Amino acid sequence: MSDQSYPPSAAFSKSSHADKATYDKMYAASINDPEAFWAEHGKRIDWIKPFSKVKSSDFTLGQVDIKWFEDGTLNASYNCIDRHLETRGDQTAIIWEPDSPDDEALHITYNELHRRTCRMANILEDMGVRKGDRVIIYLPMIPEAAYAMLACARIGAIHSIVFAGFSPDALGSRINGSDAKVVITSDEAPRGGRVTALKSNADAALLHCKDTVKCLVVKRTGGQTTWTEGRDYDYNEMAMEADDYCKPAEMNAEDPLFVLYTSGSTGQPKGVVHSTGGYMVYAAMTHQYTFDYHDGDVFWCTADVGWVTGHSYIIYGPLANGATTIMFEGVPTYPDAGRFWAVCEKHKVNQFYTAPTAIRALMGQGNDWVEKYDLSDLKLLGTVGEPINPEAWNWYNDVVGKGKCPIVDTWWQTETGGHMLTPLPGATATKPGSATLPFFGVQPVVLDAQTGEEIHDTECEGVLAIKDSWPGQMRTVYGDHERFEKTYFSDYKGYYFAGDGCRRDKDGYYWITGRVDDVINVSGHRMGTAEVESALVAHPKVAEAAVVGYPHDIKGQGIYAYVTLMNGIEPSDALRKELETWVRTEIGPIAKPDLIQWAPGLPKTRSGKIMRRILRKIAEDDFGALGDTSTLAEPAVVDELIENRMNRS
Ligand code: WT7
Repeated sequence: MSDQSYPPSAAFSKSSHADKATYDKMYAASINDPEAFWAEHGKRIDWIKPFSKVKSSDFTLGQVDIKWFEDGTLNASYNCIDRHLETRGDQTAIIWEPDSPDDEALHITYNELHRRTCRMANILEDMGVRKGDRVIIYLPMIPEAAYAMLACARIGAIHSIVFAGFSPDALGSRINGSDAKVVITSDEAPRGGRVTALKSNADAALLHCKDTVKCLVVKRTGGQTTWTEGRDYDYNEMAMEADDYCKPAEMNAEDPLFVLYTSGSTGQPKGVVHSTGGYMVYAAMTHQYTFDYHDGDVFWCTADVGWVTGHSYIIYGPLANGATTIMFEGVPTYPDAGRFWAVCEKHKVNQFYTAPTAIRALMGQGNDWVEKYDLSDLKLLGTVGEPINPEAWNWYNDVVGKGKCPIVDTWWQTETGGHMLTPLPGATATKPGSATLPFFGVQPVVLDAQTGEEIHDTECEGVLAIKDSWPGQMRTVYGDHERFEKTYFSDYKGYYFAGDGCRRDKDGYYWITGRVDDVINVSGHRMGTAEVESALVAHPKVAEAAVVGYPHDIKGQGIYAYVTLMNGIEPSDALRKELETWVRTEIGPIAKPDLIQWAPGLPKTRSGKIMRRILRKIAEDDFGALGDTSTLAEPAVVDELIENRMNRS
């Protein structure tokens, strides 16, 4: 925690979209009269049929219903492409930077983006995809991923991107869960100098799916793939024949634009459903204001399109604003720890947006990697995904930003569609580690975790909730509205509950303290402890498993697994490796446990509930603060676990 405060420079404020007076005025207007505010700002999107109703939302459990601009019609791909053609057809829309710096970057103009998207849309239609159908996108960070998203939007199909790092099992359950018609993949995915065989992952996944599911294959490396006649379609061949124009479908504002699976505290990942109208308005507006994006700027969000950050701030927000957006196929440390800064120099990046975990990893490599490059085009830096520690914030500020770039620490979630708490760079004095203040239209509240009562004192601590709807809010869980209501609206009645704890300081600034549920945040990626547990217990040698997060220097949180083996199975390093590999193949590399501790028994209440609070404390090496252990069925289990802690890898 730090009391330092960094006000925006007068020069930055002056040229920004919002100085402090503007923010205060607009924020007050957005809360006092949301209808009028959003009626005005809804116009930043081109509507086919303008909306006459702005907002209708109900957070009451049992009847949760969220609608924005509900009688308007539009097309998201038209908004990201067609409407710019007249004024900026030859401007670069997407700069594609490949994994290897030795390969050539691509500059894709809005005209080219239009042609490519139309062709992809026509291909999908030829394959039988219709309005409302689901399409799974399982691609590396290549331009075709953008074409695929926008092509779906163009014909009114709902895309669901599965991060290319996920395993065949995870892919298969998303194909089945969304009852998708088509999977778009590529032969291989290069990343950090290695390649993943995406097509063969898709082949493995498709073994467990309906045989009507088709597969569209994009050539990336030319690596060998096996081909299933009648099921597999060759994108590159079809694109040569496909027509250059496809009419954008007229969609209702509330028609789903995409589904994106994300982890929760219970069960398997859920499909977060986003709308077309509200989402587009919110993604575009936050992109413009939070990053203070101006025409001609080059914007780089380093996320993967497999996460919501990539949806909102590589594709939909920037393109809706007619921006030049960078798509980076690689990783921050390949071929060396200077790659981010090399790319910033090469493409003259103006706004740079990344995750604290990347900042911490690069900070550890020393300043030389940054200082080698000319970063004088940078105007603003951003972070997202997890709380940023002041040390990393200061390094980002001093070494990368040379003290002249405001830092926007943006708190939001897959569910929120866009930024919720964030500084506006020309308006808000920043404090290292605080996501500061709400975006327009967002009403954060701090609730007492036990009573659910709103805390009105400015300085307080509790759980973070949101009082009323905003346009980018998710609308439902795909195929399970009850789960939507239960997950977000049942713990604290009348509020959207985000799952995070927070503190509010004397200036009304919000400080996120981390998840208060069984979700852990590993390198800014969300992981449900229940998911990792169910992967572990699926192994024939595992009897029981409990997973918690623990502090990790680079990743923020690491995955700590307590594993009880089947009777007669002896623990060994080989078995530990086997379990790590097992979880990697069940879910994906990001779910691999960092530490596995053998646990002869797990601390449980007499009713059989695992006491994670205790397991978290042991994982943190905080043995003095175990709290009340009197309700445990077998208190001796805890002593054993503490004793065994040295036993972990
Ligand atoms: C969770 C959402 C939405 C972008 C990527 C993550 C944590 C996100 C911050 C931040 C502190 C943050 C929260 C949140 N989180 N941004 N700036 N400061 N915590 O999306 O996978 O849906 O995860 O990430 O815990 O609930 P996500």
